[in-house]
Amino acid sequence: MHCYAITHQFGIENLVLEERASPKPKSNDIKVRMLAASLNYRDMQVLSGLRNVSLPLIPLSDACAEVIEVGENTSRFKVGDRVMPVFINGWISGRQPMDDEMPTLGGPLDGTLCEEACWHEENAVLVPAHLTDVEAASLPCAAVSAWNALFVATHTGPGDAVLIQGTGGVSLFALQFAKMAGARVAIISSHDEKLEKAKVLGADVTVNYKQYPEWGSIVRDQAGPVDTVVEVGGSRTLEQSLICLRNAGHVSIVGFLSGTEPKFDLGELSRKSVRVQGIRVGNRDSFEAMCRAVSIGGIKPVIESVGTFEDAKSTLVAFRDGNHFGKVCITF
Ligand SMILES: NC(=O)c1ccc[n+]([C@@H]2O[C@H](COP(=O)([O-])OP(=O)(O)OC[C@H]3O[C@@H](n4cnc5c(N)ncnc54)[C@H](OP(=O)(O)O)[C@@H]3O)[C@@H](O)[C@H]2O)c1
Repeated sequence: MHCYAITHQFGIENLVLEERASPKPKSNDIKVRMLAASLNYRDMQVLSGLRNVSLPLIPLSDACAEVIEVGENTSRFKVGDRVMPVFINGWISGRQPMDDEMPTLGGPLDGTLCEEACWHEENAVLVPAHLTDVEAASLPCAAVSAWNALFVATHTGPGDAVLIQGTGGVSLFALQFAKMAGARVAIISSHDEKLEKAKVLGADVTVNYKQYPEWGSIVRDQAGPVDTVVEVGGSRTLEQSLICLRNAGHVSIVGFLSGTEPKFDLGELSRKSVRVQGIRVGNRDSFEAMCRAVSIGGIKPVIESVGTFEDAKSTLVAFRDGNHFGKVCITF
């Protein structure tokens, strides 16, 4: 089987296409053939050497795969099933384990940019039947994070106002899930064309954050005080997020695209009785609950583009350029 690996040098250009022996499943493993994979911002950090991972490493964490063999003690899946991997291996339910280094796919664990892999059966979930391979591959990291930000860390429901930042993977899932729950959604983006597309997906209020850097008051005026923020911007956005948040509102901290150094008055947290919750993707129970909702709601992930395994490096470079709206995927 073939895989791409970071062997000695970081950088997309330095990824090495290798031929390796086909993996053999242990007794609780399923052996899978990769059908599609999807890219996340985190993969770019891993590929650039910004995450502490040991080499060699097969990058990427998300995939849709077909079960082609099962170990003798497996019971969750059968040959032919389509499955997706659980991003944080071993986190089935309840609170996040206390381990310092989480066993996450695509670093430190080998990821999904490979034709075959063996996963412990507990670390996989069934694909919602209505999704294509590519659509399913987009769920494990981005969609589960959005789900947790809205429905596990807090309880977004009908009539709530939600603020979503940017139009990448996490954010568009958050938009779709929040609309499914009957919420009013405000979204900010650096591009007017992307905001137009977000309106088609149901966004009620749209603001260009490049054009209006003080977008917090605009969102508050147009969407009403916001109940929940799905924060992916970090450093440069949190101050504005707090401006549009209602008293006792909730901020789910998912990402730090503009940095991790807070630039806001901490007193605001107390004055507004803000609830802040960090998000670390989510456990398998959340993933399966989300899949049920995706099936019932008939949600179709937003796919920007699909490249091939053979041409994976150019797909990764295109993703790094950051012009995508939704998910960028690779088929095998
Ligand atoms: N904590 C977790 O478990 C977890 C899980 C998944 C992702 N994340 C994090 O969440 C973030 C998003 O991940 P992703 O995979 O969805 O990324 P992505 O698909 O690459 O999307 C990034 C988008 O965010 C927007 N953006 C960039 N800088 C921004 C800023 N300063 N303010 C507001 N929006 C900004 C851009 O949208 P426009 O072009 O529309 O402006 C960009 O397209 C990353 O920081 C990632 O590490 C964390």
